[in-house]
Amino acid sequence: MDVTRYVDDRPEDGVFRVNRAIFTDQAVFEREIEQIFEGGWVFLGIESQAENPHDFFTTTMGRVPVMVQRDGEGTLRGFVNSCPHKGARLAQTRAGNARLHVCPYHSWSFDSAGRSKAIKSHRAGCYSAAFEQTDHGLAALPRFEAYRGFLFGSLAADVMPLADYLGEAAKLLDLVADQSEEGLELVPGQVTFTYEANWKLQLENCSDAYHFTSAHPSYIRVLERRQQEMSADVVASVWENSDYWKEEAQGVAGGSYSFANGHVLNWGIFGITPAIPLYESAGALAERHGEGKRDWMFNMRNLTIFPNLQVAENASSQLRVIRPLAPGLTEMRTWCIAPKGESAAARRQRIRQYEDFFNPTGMATPDDTVSYENCQIGYAGTVEPWLQGYARGMTATVEGGNRFSDLIGMAPERSVLADAQLCDETLFHSYYRAWAQRMAGESEA
Ligand code: FES
Ligand SMILES: [Fe+2]
Repeated sequence: MDVTRYVDDRPEDGVFRVNRAIFTDQAVFEREIEQIFEGGWVFLGIESQAENPHDFFTTTMGRVPVMVQRDGEGTLRGFVNSCPHKGARLAQTRAGNARLHVCPYHSWSFDSAGRSKAIKSHRAGCYSAAFEQTDHGLAALPRFEAYRGFLFGSLAADVMPLADYLGEAAKLLDLVADQSEEGLELVPGQVTFTYEANWKLQLENCSDAYHFTSAHPSYIRVLERRQQEMSADVVASVWENSDYWKEEAQGVAGGSYSFANGHVLNWGIFGITPAIPLYESAGALAERHGEGKRDWMFNMRNLTIFPNLQVAENASSQLRVIRPLAPGLTEMRTWCIAPKGESAAARRQRIRQYEDFFNPTGMATPDDTVSYENCQIGYAGTVEPWLQGYARGMTATVEGGNRFSDLIGMAPERSVLADAQLCDETLFHSYYRAWAQRMAGESEA
């Protein structure tokens, strides 16, 4: 595939443009499913979704139904959720607990390690010797690996190890995983919704600081009111535990980091504030991980692990899984993600702040999805096919990291330091460079 038709990437000329067709073309979409979602690492879920023996959850990789299950001994495995007999989808629910899965079509059964348990009326079946010598268990995912409780799989076997794929961006997953010694959990109450636009609009929007003041005025008004209502000592305490940021942050409001394989982060400085549910652990986290890493846990962070995982942390915390269904249709599965063992008060604050920002009934998500749908409608206009939304920050981007990434020993490929207005768009380049590489048929970097 000639990717230069879709991504015009000429750093020497200061040009980076994306063609509208990338969001609408059926052939592009089908190749994305094959090359990206069925051709490399994708996020499946977190370990606590199958916490106990025989727990399982279901998800998809591209078009392929997938089941992740813990067996009786505690080992987690990923399978294609399809019966080897005639292919019927085996587990029908989003999650559950089953020592045994019985296929609803002809009752072949499988244990929680995916092994065949019984074939109905086996002896009467007059099967050939060749059939008897065939394994009748579920097909394991060619690759299945975990990083700090985040589970990934690949339907292609010839991919690099997960740790290499995540690279330096893994340190940003550490910032999520290390918030509690007990690990992470998803707060009950998964929300699934669809929007009528391309999956890459969600990919971009998570990292798009530029839309915030335009698309979310009602939420900003709520924030301003809360700020006014906060007592003076709460406002003063924002920096009390963090000399570093007080000194170093002068003029810097945040920025972005870009990594190999399409992972990106945009971030902003919040400070150590009781507006964040993690506040109760501020002291303990500094002792356990050092101040720099603790302070990073309090920064606003929007992390994308290409192609389908996003973890957004601000006043609350959200885990999102992106699932493309058609060029103009995307399914989102979203959860509130939280450190295990936080106090009831912190959990309450996390959930309340989740509802007002992240929920599809909240004040931010509907603004975003409506904008994605407006873009999708606008893409029909191809008189000028090249989009101009990838140019902010072009002259602010530098190779490597900066004094803030040094705090957690992280070495990104590129970084931008920003004031409140810059709103970098060069981090999208990472997405489309990884995209172009995968679509061109090159394996992951
Ligand atoms: S398709 Fe599963 S038993 Fe027939
Ligand atoms: Fe938004």
